[in-house]
Amino acid sequence: MTVSLPRSALVTGVAGFVASHLAEALLDHGTQVTGLDRRSPETDAVAAANLTACLGRPGFTLARADLIDCELAPLLATVDVVFHLAGIPGVRASWGARFPEYVASNIVATRRLAATCHQLGVPRLVVASSSSVYGPAGDRPVTEDGPTRPMSPYGVTKLAGEQLSLAYGSLPQPATTVVALRYFTVYGPRQRPDMLIQRALQAALGGEELLVYGDGKQRRDFTFVGDVVRASLLAAGVPGPAEVLNVAGGNSVSVTEVLATIAELTGRPVPTRSAPDQAGDVPGTWADTSKARSLLHWQPRTGLADGLAQQLDWLRCHQPGGHR
Ligand code: NAD
Ligand code: UGA
Repeated sequence: MTVSLPRSALVTGVAGFVASHLAEALLDHGTQVTGLDRRSPETDAVAAANLTACLGRPGFTLARADLIDCELAPLLATVDVVFHLAGIPGVRASWGARFPEYVASNIVATRRLAATCHQLGVPRLVVASSSSVYGPAGDRPVTEDGPTRPMSPYGVTKLAGEQLSLAYGSLPQPATTVVALRYFTVYGPRQRPDMLIQRALQAALGGEELLVYGDGKQRRDFTFVGDVVRASLLAAGVPGPAEVLNVAGGNSVSVTEVLATIAELTGRPVPTRSAPDQAGDVPGTWADTSKARSLLHWQPRTGLADGLAQQLDWLRCHQPGGHR
């Protein structure tokens, strides 16, 4: 990678799936990383597993803190870049009783962080946004200037957080420049346990059968976590006060096609059961990534079959139920 990486960075949501990979990559490049999360590896098994490769590594400091009310100034004093990935993810759960948490973490805490970065003059804020800001894809890949019509409460909160962050970058002579990355359905080792591919691989390895929502024809532009990390690192150095970029694998693939590829890889069909359509589940996502190609000189490198094989290998090594 030819980009100049920050000497010092704050990574929020570091105990999570994507941010833990990002923190590892930054450490590999010699960046001093403060990783912030409200989940603790001492009390949360997923956080502990995600942070295994970071904890104890020179250059890594873990800050257990809630972005809603923690003291931000000491965390931001010396950083060149903030990678803000903390948030409440998950489209389907956002209709339920946890909606106030989505608002608190995805909107209120994001605005608070962006405002404090601006006050303290942190040079660059990179924010994790989401494909769910768009609503359903048409018959062409969506560009960043396409309409934003989120179909779920989650998507509404991600759009609000993204736009609030970009508003700080759009101030005259902004103290903090902002890049919002619209990640499209990320998968790979350590994927969240509520997501399709993790559940399907677990089912194929003998775990609970997978509930397939709707007819299985819904399509996603699945993106390998290594590609998401590379785009996020490059976003630290891209010029411009306020940019929004799609980060996606480049192909729209149906749930049924994913299950067929997993069956080929594992040599056994994925056991499934039909379940009703889920509210807010868009029929398809599909991204045009030419802006990331031209601004970041980035393109996805890992195709679905290869990425699924990497996630499967990881699962076989790390899950008690996983066996070769
Ligand atoms: P994750 O749940 O694994 O990680 C999110 C982390 O943020 C968690 O460890 C959580 O404890 C932490 N967090 C939440 N609210 C916090 C707060 N107020 N203070 C401190 N920590 C807090 O999720 P993920 O899948 O790794 O997603 C990371 C980010 O990327 C999220 O912002 C999500 O909306 C976005 N995103 C994810 C995907 C995907 O497919 N995984 C796609 C698009 C966008
Ligand atoms: C994912 C993440 O969960 C969100 O946090 C993120 O913001 C979003 O991507 C995004 O791209 O912005 P989703 O696309 O719903 O959301 O990802 P999965 O949970 O992997 O679901 C993919 C498809 O599989 C959906 O159509 C879903 O209905 C289906 N699915 C999922 C099932 O049929 N069964 C399951 O058990 C899980």
